[in-house]
Amino acid sequence: MAGNSTGKEFIATSFGESHGAKIGVVIDGCPAGLPFSETDVQADLDRRIPLQKLELFSGRIEKDVAQILSGVFEGFTTGAPICIAVDNKEARSQDYADIRDLPRPAHSDYTARVKYGGFGDPRGGGRFSGRVTVATIMGGSVAKKLLSKFDVDVLAYTRSIGKIKMAKQPSQEGIRSQTYRSAARCPDLACAEKMEDSILEAKKEGESLGGIVECLITNLPAGVGEPLFDALDADLAKALFSVPAVKGVEFGGGFALAEMRGSEANDPFQMQKGKVSTETNFSGGILGGISSGMPIVIRAAIKPTPSISKEQRTVDLAKMENAKIKVSGRHDPCVVPKAVPAIEAAIALTLADHMIRAGFIPKVLGRKK
Ligand SMILES: Cc1cc2nc3c(=O)[nH]c(=O)nc-3n(C[C@H](O)[C@H](O)[C@H](O)COP(=O)(O)O)c2cc1C
Repeated sequence: MAGNSTGKEFIATSFGESHGAKIGVVIDGCPAGLPFSETDVQADLDRRIPLQKLELFSGRIEKDVAQILSGVFEGFTTGAPICIAVDNKEARSQDYADIRDLPRPAHSDYTARVKYGGFGDPRGGGRFSGRVTVATIMGGSVAKKLLSKFDVDVLAYTRSIGKIKMAKQPSQEGIRSQTYRSAARCPDLACAEKMEDSILEAKKEGESLGGIVECLITNLPAGVGEPLFDALDADLAKALFSVPAVKGVEFGGGFALAEMRGSEANDPFQMQKGKVSTETNFSGGILGGISSGMPIVIRAAIKPTPSISKEQRTVDLAKMENAKIKVSGRHDPCVVPKAVPAIEAAIALTLADHMIRAGFIPKVLGRKK
């Protein structure tokens, strides 16, 4: 199952299954001398499950306590691999026993069974559970701390849930101060309430909803990205698709660019305070796979949660006949709010790697006194 690592200089390896003993991450290549502690990771982990409106979520409310097992000494990274892990305590595997041979439509049960010959851990979605994003979030904590030393800011938030969309583009400060005040993780609090109501309505009907998460990256210098195959947008998109349920990614003007004319879509260059910038940002801060110095704007489309209590058609893989399934157990009627910190983290991991590769971050951050 090779494929659980990302990055070339700042390499994050994710491990663990939904109902296994632990979920964790190993970061190899983090520069020495970065101030880092459990408090940093904990702050990010605590943002994973919104405590405001618990009825919107799965009922698997795990108080994850991060443990740093290596790579940090006297409050600073040492340059050695950093291993961070949490225990899985809230596993309720019996929920999955009855549907072991009935692949949930739109979940990975069928493809994983084919690929791993039935040996994969099916409990709670195993390696394909949204819970694996805990590892991404913990790795992202290290990446975000590193990026913050170089003033790079990564902020994700919910842009829409189902048909409820934010009308206006929020300010950077609005995203920073408001996003985690709502369970929907939407910085427009009035819109967040409508989103939350729509999730509850869907839940009552045995249904689920998807949505869009947007991420704004500011202060990334121009010149980050390694075309051709490691173009910045290529690697960011790859990282985003590591988050389960992400089914579409766009940058800047995205798919709307396809209907625009060149004179509308081209971002005119301008000199501003002695620096080159662009008047508009339909390119979303990336040109030719290299950062332009403009804010990077990324959107990820998230599909509705596969596991719903409404009856669906499937197959019985033991009897090889058509069957029906109603999924019970603890499932989020909408995974978008929980995906917000995971998407932010996946992006931060990619940016930390590319900042090192482009020479903007050295291997050692200063000298110990
Ligand atoms: C944070 C998070 C939580 C998730 N929770 C659930 C869940 O409770 N039930 C479910 O069926 N899918 C859940 N998913 C989605 C599935 O893991 C995902 O749809 C599945 O692995 C198939 O992968 P794909 O949608 O990327 O193709 C969650 C995803 C994320 C990001």
